[in-house]
Amino acid sequence: MTTLGTPLSPSATRVMLLGAGELGKEVLIALQRLGVETIAVDRYENAPGQQVAHHARTITMSDPVQLKALIEAEKPQLVVPEIEAIATPMLQQLEDAGVVRVIPTARAARLTMDREGIRRLAAETLGVPTSPYKFCDSLAELQAAIDGGIGYPCIVKPVMSSSGKGQSKIDGPADVQKAWDYAMAGGRVSHGRVIVEGFIDFDYEITLLTVRALDAGGTVQTHFCDPIGHVQVSGDYVESWQPHPMSSVALQKAQDIARKVTSDLGGQGLFGVELFVKGEQVWFSEVSPRPHDTGMVTMATQWQNEFELHARAILGLPVDTSLKSPGASAVIYGGVDAKGIAFDGVAHALAVPGIDVRLFGKPESFVKRRMGVALAHAADVDTARRNAKEAASRVKPRQA
Ligand SMILES: Nc1ncnc2c1ncn2[C@@H]1O[C@H](COP(=O)(O)OP(=O)(O)O)[C@@H](O)[C@H]1O
Ligand SMILES: [Mg+2]
Repeated sequence: MTTLGTPLSPSATRVMLLGAGELGKEVLIALQRLGVETIAVDRYENAPGQQVAHHARTITMSDPVQLKALIEAEKPQLVVPEIEAIATPMLQQLEDAGVVRVIPTARAARLTMDREGIRRLAAETLGVPTSPYKFCDSLAELQAAIDGGIGYPCIVKPVMSSSGKGQSKIDGPADVQKAWDYAMAGGRVSHGRVIVEGFIDFDYEITLLTVRALDAGGTVQTHFCDPIGHVQVSGDYVESWQPHPMSSVALQKAQDIARKVTSDLGGQGLFGVELFVKGEQVWFSEVSPRPHDTGMVTMATQWQNEFELHARAILGLPVDTSLKSPGASAVIYGGVDAKGIAFDGVAHALAVPGIDVRLFGKPESFVKRRMGVALAHAADVDTARRNAKEAASRVKPRQA
């Protein structure tokens, strides 16, 4: 698609975002800037992206009947999943029938919807190095998997979960029952399947943003952003920075893995490939076929941030993944459980050199809900990290 239309007219290029959180909001803004007509879908009203789109729709996206009805009514040219909990077999059906194009592909959305599809593809089909793993449906199977080779320490995660929910580390036999119970309580759907992974004692972990975009001849080319380093606490991202230094051998391996996985998933768009690195060893962990939370740093560091790259790539436009400046991001948590909260200290935060702040506009805050992010650019990553954390700490959410 190289022709763009006028929004709210018969020539409109219509794009539907399935999920309209903080990442979807930025994709929507990037699309708006290209004059694309946008439809923001979420499970609750006034989600961040719904506040900046032409149309806001609220449905249960995991319900195939509701999803099909909405897509048929709105007739977008592109459907862009922003979250994992979507009725992906229905997307596949609609894509197969030629009703819509799913970004990057319906198959990619389906395979990355739970940990099993993508892990088996990467490790068993593509032969990419990963942590040792086993899928288990009961406490007894979990114990057997650990005893049968996974060993201690290991990590247990519900197959359907994100942002560290239901995920815990097992250091010895005494932790197994607790980890199982925690996974059962934290999974998105209670079908009780977990992955247990051997613990990788990595030196650092990165997100390698990988873009599949058309070149002038209409052929898909793979582009890489500079590696993004990040810190995760209980499986949830709190801080990221770019570029993260890597040896040329490790970087080459990381790019080879990212290319292999994203080429197989296919389509056009940006992917967040998560990798663990120890010395010159690189392991694939997981991939998002869409912008990645740790990639919010690119709003401060790249000429085209990850959201603009995604928007361009899916529309068939050329991309530029080059770095503008070293930088960092630090998450601003809600700190309170309340609706319609207020944020004090924003001016104080913005007084830190090289700082920008995003407040997502989520209608309801939880203590550990991501409500905003501080972004910093600086001459070097260490300064940027310090400044981003300082700015994030100056923003004080409170009950209004
Ligand atoms: N096998 C592992 N070894 C060591 N650390 C891990 C392993 N799996 C996950 N982690 C840590 O937990 C974080 C979250 O795990 P991940 O599989 O990415 O879950 P999510 O889908 O919730 O992001 C990772 O970024 C990493 O810091
Ligand atoms: Mg992850």
